[in-house]
Amino acid sequence: MRRLTVTAALALAFGTAAAQAPTPPMGWNPWNAFHTEVDEAKIMANAEALRRTGLADAGYRYVNMDDGWWRTRRPDGRIEVRTSMFPSGALPDGSTSMRPFVDRLHALGFKAGIYSEIGRNACSQAWDRHSPNLPEGNTAAREIGTYGHQAADVALLLGEWGFDYMKVDACGLADFTPEQPWVRDGTHRVFGPWIVRGKPDAESARRVEALYAGLRKQIDAVRPDGGVVLSICAWGEARVANWAGRYGSSWRTSPDIEPTWKSMLLNFDSAIKRPLYAGPGHWNDPDMLELGHGEFDEKHLAEARAHMSLWAIAAAPLVLGADLTRMPQALIDIAGNREVIAIDQDPAGHQGVTVMRAGDTQVVARTLAASGQKAVALVNRGSRPRTVTLPLARLQLAPAATVRDVWTKRERGVDGVISVELAPRETALLLVRGRPLRPGHAYVSELPARVRVLEDGSAVLSTAQAAGWVPVQANAAPSGKPLTLRGAAVAEGIGVLAGSRLALRLDGEFARFRSRVGATTATRGALVYRVLADGKPVFEHGGPGPVDIDVAVDGVKTLELVTRGEPGRLVEVAWAGAALLR
Ligand code: GAL
Repeated sequence: MRRLTVTAALALAFGTAAAQAPTPPMGWNPWNAFHTEVDEAKIMANAEALRRTGLADAGYRYVNMDDGWWRTRRPDGRIEVRTSMFPSGALPDGSTSMRPFVDRLHALGFKAGIYSEIGRNACSQAWDRHSPNLPEGNTAAREIGTYGHQAADVALLLGEWGFDYMKVDACGLADFTPEQPWVRDGTHRVFGPWIVRGKPDAESARRVEALYAGLRKQIDAVRPDGGVVLSICAWGEARVANWAGRYGSSWRTSPDIEPTWKSMLLNFDSAIKRPLYAGPGHWNDPDMLELGHGEFDEKHLAEARAHMSLWAIAAAPLVLGADLTRMPQALIDIAGNREVIAIDQDPAGHQGVTVMRAGDTQVVARTLAASGQKAVALVNRGSRPRTVTLPLARLQLAPAATVRDVWTKRERGVDGVISVELAPRETALLLVRGRPLRPGHAYVSELPARVRVLEDGSAVLSTAQAAGWVPVQANAAPSGKPLTLRGAAVAEGIGVLAGSRLALRLDGEFARFRSRVGATTATRGALVYRVLADGKPVFEHGGPGPVDIDVAVDGVKTLELVTRGEPGRLVEVAWAGAALLR
């Protein structure tokens, strides 16, 4: 019985989700350019621009609508379309529908995306009070979010209207507190709050999770084909990045991006420290691209290339947000660089992992599907020129390799060390082709898409800790500090909290699993480490460690790494040098 349950749970962990977004979704969304002041004509003009520029062929295939499309919720619960914005939605019988709009996009070969809300009220009702396109009617009619309407709204948007992609925001859970002016004046009902920005308490996070879990259930009921992308938009709040991979195709890890270098880096950082949470079907989302805006416009091409490089190395969704009808060719070329897109869309789905960080410079490496190939971003975050040197060994590659700069298209052989001079705010994105340093050997930290976090042990984190820590990290401790094993530095490994359970997808491809495991610092008290192969215990040790593990895993599909500590006690643990051998 237990074996069955384990197998079923693991099938769920790795199984069906990939159908919705095997690689990070790519497309266009009007929000950054137009906010709610967009209409069908502008969207169709951008869809045409995607085709004309070749961006559609390069992979940008979702055309999405954001906040503002809804006019009112009728007394019978059905949402009416704002037909002044979507004229095709006014049907001859007087009813309204988004189906004609979806059909127009489908006819052009695009997938169609729509926007909704997990609470009762939408973001624009709090933050765009001067918008001419706010929901209308009495208080109930203006409750345009899915709260209390999940089944009917999902049936309407994804069933009747046939949208392929649903972005679901969360302002309704955060911004309708009694003291907000738009609540005090009686125009909106009080809600919670269940989200207090920057203060993710565990109980509220569970409630938010339950709402999105409910939504996923409705989506699967309406579209059992699994063809719908659910984009969770809770801006990294409510501990969302720890649980959203169970329901969403992607989830925002940070606040709204702004067209500034600082905001772009902040959002990048929020995603890049979470490689073990992403993989085919479930992606960290640092928000839409700001190419074409502010510090990423045609006067800032180095920054624009850096932005695109960082999203690609992070396996982030690539959703353009500028008005493409006026996008300069130089920026179209950046968005459309096929080699950069190929890195973002690499079928293995391993997100990049930071392998070096010193001052303003950072190196992020991403294992690609082709053997011996890595994508590497060498990043200059600062405003002074820098030189970055990277030993190939740090990429787990043998000394001789070919390095191709996917922006300049220059290719060269390197021996031992890659050295690159970077202008201020420049990122070099390299495709490195070499041979594995140790044939048949891969660190788990190089293969993040093979990891699923089944339990993260994060219940012990205080609200303040939960805002900054990442419960399961590659090459770092959950606190964000460098990874250690009883105080000694660890270069490659997985940092976890006691109380965690990770599943590694082996698919019968490996022969041995090797690791040292132990508390990151000297500690007393009960700790147990366990390794299970397809549900069967193959290793167990009681005590803080460190202790060596070397087990055969021939034919094993899923390996679980389990740590158990004293309930309520915070202990950081390192799976140091955790590696799979063929
Ligand atoms: C924000 C969201 C933005 C946009 C906006 C619409 O919460 O992060 O991407 O959708 O709401 O009001």
